[in-house]
Amino acid sequence: MPHSATKPFIDVLSGQRQVIPPVWMMRQAGRYLPEYREVRAKAGGFLDLCFSPELAAEVTLQPIRRFGFDAAIIFSDILVIPYALGRSVRFEVGEGPRLEPLDDPGKVATLAPRADLTKLAPVFEALRIVRGTLDSKVALIGFCGAPWTVATYMVAGHGTPDQAPARMMAYRHPEAFAKIIDVLVDNSIEYLLAQLAAGADALQIFDTWAGVLPPAEFARWSIDPTRRIVAGVRAKVPDAKIIGFPRGAGAQLPAYVEATGVNAVSIDWTAEPTFIRERVQTRVAVQGNLDPLVLVTGGEALDRAVDSVLANFGHGRLIFNLGHGIQPETPIAHVGQMLKRVRG
Ligand code: CP3
Repeated sequence: MPHSATKPFIDVLSGQRQVIPPVWMMRQAGRYLPEYREVRAKAGGFLDLCFSPELAAEVTLQPIRRFGFDAAIIFSDILVIPYALGRSVRFEVGEGPRLEPLDDPGKVATLAPRADLTKLAPVFEALRIVRGTLDSKVALIGFCGAPWTVATYMVAGHGTPDQAPARMMAYRHPEAFAKIIDVLVDNSIEYLLAQLAAGADALQIFDTWAGVLPPAEFARWSIDPTRRIVAGVRAKVPDAKIIGFPRGAGAQLPAYVEATGVNAVSIDWTAEPTFIRERVQTRVAVQGNLDPLVLVTGGEALDRAVDSVLANFGHGRLIFNLGHGIQPETPIAHVGQMLKRVRG
């Protein structure tokens, strides 16, 4: 393959450590960027922005232009799947997502088995636009939410600190809850395959709320559905590169990696370095894990924290990233400082 066509981000996912790790940031397109706020203001609602291909492509590319990250992530949201399933999904300014709650078996019986993926055609169009514009060395990431995390919003109808409504539903009505999960598994496979067909080079599965589950429930509701999605995607695209992000999985990361078959795991900032090196990074690449709050802080604290991510994980396969999404109040200059420290 000609050198110009290789992508360091994809090389790490394929098993080749890079001397300077590829870098991107979760939620890299967003409110900390003035150019994002400008486009966001003229788009109308948040979903209008997600479903305007030119504007979604533009905000996807903004952080690449400004910082030269090694990967772009398509601008969309994990809740577009409930939307394509015909559920009502709204984003209120300052309040986060609002959905019609799916909190009893009677309501679950009305859940459509198949999403109307034509409703997500603008996302695929945005992917094609971005792929056509991006430098060939920069990877394009498609994504979906893991079924457990998407289900927490569908059941409660909004975000909660501990996902009590979804946990209760899974205990009280395991069959109805399993139906929600199964519908999300099937449709996430189709959605991810369509993103690959539209030009995504790799995929990430966001399981932001994995960490609130006890081990047996984690195995049932996080690991197993993710395993089925990975297998379903690979049944059609055998070499699909997939990153899992079971936030808060801690000691269960080796089991997650073993069972799901992901190429990399994204780790949060609480991950214990020796454990990760010995039990996780020996099998797959790791992505992470700077605390987003130290990026808000900047200064020497930021330099020390970047050095420690590199010292902890830089001798193996590493994609440098944050341990979760960037905070909207992050000063832009700190992102530049972080990149300089990583790349030298
Ligand atoms: O990473 C990127 O730059 C790509 C875009 C992206 C968004 N959401 C845009 C967004 C991605 C990958 C997501 C994933 C997502 N969405 C997750 C998993 C990752 C994570 O951060 O935990 C979750 C749980 C959601 C659901 C969601 N979307 C919530 C809870 C909220 C409200 C909270 C908030 O940050 O405002 C959103 C809205 C959202 N999604 C915004 C953005 C840029 C902010 C909306 C705005 O600009 O008005």
